[in-house]
Amino acid sequence: MTVTTAIRADLLDFTAAPAWGDTGKGSDAPSGVRWRPDHWLLLDASGRIAGVQREDPAPGIARHDHRGRLLLPGFIDTHVHSPQVPVLASYGTALLDWLDTYTFPSETAWADEAVAQRGTALFLDALLAHGTTAAVVFPTVHKGSAEALFAGAAARGMRIIGGKVLMDRHAPDGLRDTVASAERDCVDLIQRWHGRGRCSYALTVRFAPTSTPEQLAMAGALCRADASLYLQTHVAENHDEVRWVAELFPQARSYLAVYDDAGLLHPRSVLAHGIWLDADDRARLATSGAHIAHCPTSNLFLGSGLYPWRTALQAGHGTSLASDVGGGTSMCLLRNAAAAYTVQALQGERLTAWCALHAATRGAAAALQLGHEIGSLEPGCMADFTLWDWSAGPLDTERQRVARGLHEQVFAWMTLADERHLAATWVAGQARYTRRTAA
Ligand code: GUN
Ligand code: ZN
Repeated sequence: MTVTTAIRADLLDFTAAPAWGDTGKGSDAPSGVRWRPDHWLLLDASGRIAGVQREDPAPGIARHDHRGRLLLPGFIDTHVHSPQVPVLASYGTALLDWLDTYTFPSETAWADEAVAQRGTALFLDALLAHGTTAAVVFPTVHKGSAEALFAGAAARGMRIIGGKVLMDRHAPDGLRDTVASAERDCVDLIQRWHGRGRCSYALTVRFAPTSTPEQLAMAGALCRADASLYLQTHVAENHDEVRWVAELFPQARSYLAVYDDAGLLHPRSVLAHGIWLDADDRARLATSGAHIAHCPTSNLFLGSGLYPWRTALQAGHGTSLASDVGGGTSMCLLRNAAAAYTVQALQGERLTAWCALHAATRGAAAALQLGHEIGSLEPGCMADFTLWDWSAGPLDTERQRVARGLHEQVFAWMTLADERHLAATWVAGQARYTRRTAA
């Protein structure tokens, strides 16, 4: 293995999940946190991480000196909607009205493949410009929207999990499929894209209200037929939604049980929100291996509720961090990490920077069974990483200057920084985003 490139920066990643509430002491980070200030990250010609060293690299190796910047593994956004940039920051509604008023009408435009392609390019470039190198994505019901997503991801070398949205009822004209058309489209997209490059297919059930029991069963059968497929959906986000699901599926023990009964819960299932679940649901998530994508800016913006992260942890199921744009208000997972802290504070809990950043990197990778590829700076992983300024103005510069200890420094950065602090994003060993500096 030949080292071709070396990047100098302050390296932060994780080797395991840090304990809840443990900030560490002074410059000593708790177990699971790997802090290597002023080191060189070494890349090989295949776009993978080759190692880390303190010493200057040998002559002949291309050097990128980002001394004084923070280098993190690229963020993994485990729940985001590619067509929802136009509905960001839509005023005045909670989930079900928000879908009817803004989101469904907006998504109908993606029936036009040219619109879907343009929107997808904007979306993927925006992910990179917000520090996200891998994502689990909902496009629209239209097959072409999934095609655009995978083609766009392949062109950028990004790690993307997605699939055409399944919805055969309770949606407007132009935004419904049928069991038969959906199955055909899924099978075709799976053949074309699942396992091709860095793309994986996810059966994508929008949520229980927009799929008939027959469509849920079809998705379950496809999951059973190939355990390497992912499954993504929404669950227990909002009170009115939970009530509606109980009316639509009176025989199911709970909202989560609707998915379980259809065979949709497995170790590659990613369920967004998971706020209003009971102890039996959480125990079932744990035994199934499915995990929750926590979407704090979305939950706060739509007034959906407060995710009980510590309860989830105690129940033994995983939690990753996600933006849920356009219900969420920022694609930047730093903004979402700061919101996640607030969501915990409102419940009398404290989310450390370590737990939050782990959930956006290595934790998400592990939950997606992709720890060998993404989420850390481990040799052999793809060289997907980001370079951040510790501060970008007089206030956060001063805050950094007075920070005592590593957690205080990183927590203040996580809370105050956003995409304007991002200097560069590398994917598979190539710089795919570089901040334009003022001329
Ligand atoms: N539930 C069903 N569809 C959606 C969506 O697009 N966004 C969110 N936040 N929740 C949903
Ligand atoms: Zn969503």
